[in-house]
Amino acid sequence: MSEFLSPGEARCEYSLRRNDLAKENEIERVLRERGIATIEMPLSADDFKRFSEGMAICLDECPEQLAETFFKADSRYGGEAGYTRKEKKIDERTGLQKADPKSYFHFTEAARGCWREQFKNGPKVLRDFLEDGYEIQDALMGLAKETIGELENAHPNISKLYFPDGNSYSFLRLLRYDGYEAHSVKSEVAKPHYDISGLTIQAYADAPGFWAAKDGVNGRRKHYDTAEHEAYTFMGKGHEKVYGKIDDIKPLWHGVDRIIPAGVTWVPERTAVILFVDAPNVDYHLNQHDTLPQLVGAKTLALV
Ligand SMILES: [Fe+2]
Repeated sequence: MSEFLSPGEARCEYSLRRNDLAKENEIERVLRERGIATIEMPLSADDFKRFSEGMAICLDECPEQLAETFFKADSRYGGEAGYTRKEKKIDERTGLQKADPKSYFHFTEAARGCWREQFKNGPKVLRDFLEDGYEIQDALMGLAKETIGELENAHPNISKLYFPDGNSYSFLRLLRYDGYEAHSVKSEVAKPHYDISGLTIQAYADAPGFWAAKDGVNGRRKHYDTAEHEAYTFMGKGHEKVYGKIDDIKPLWHGVDRIIPAGVTWVPERTAVILFVDAPNVDYHLNQHDTLPQLVGAKTLALV
């Protein structure tokens, strides 16, 4: 028997429902109507830049110890913590790069205790980078708690679902893309997808290109650039799995386009920081087909 609740069990356990008679908060109205809402960001661009630079310094000075941070957080889909490197992918037909080489790092609540012990005598640059990550995760979790608290009126017990007994389960993702020659690439930076999460906070991006389509896979795409002291929040597929049809706040279909200004020959390193908030006691029973439905379509088409 699984140690986690299924979506149906979670609905019962937390008595989750949608209260249509409740007065709707502003953020709730915006999420329902647009699928994405702007929230105030207490951290500055410099905080995120220092955080990103911290990983670059570790890659340079202590790559082996950085790689030792990786582990599988638990048996659920998408639950990996620590450092991962993804090398570029080249289109065999055209010879052009179709996926950017990047480094990313996931912070989780559980990993924090392990890393503090594991690296207590480790390189100072790594300890500093990890501490920066914990601080940023704490600040963003403060925002997530406020945002989920705002949904409580119309979603009784939603805070208990995501923060049972003061517990939480989140992934802070730091994504750092390598720089590249502008003429050597094609396709988008991030393919269209739904997030795995309950709630996502798109906290920081130092390059434009993020888009979202509130009506899903075939919806109209709208670009959202991150301004200083602003962030975006939206729901992932996990939230939909738990609430099912009783909630009309839907997960957000989104991706990142590649935007290269005219005349630019070298695109420098780029950083994005995202927080994914999940229900600690629930396995959403998601798989890749839920978050990347186009892959199912491609396979199905290939079979007929
Ligand atoms: Fe995403």
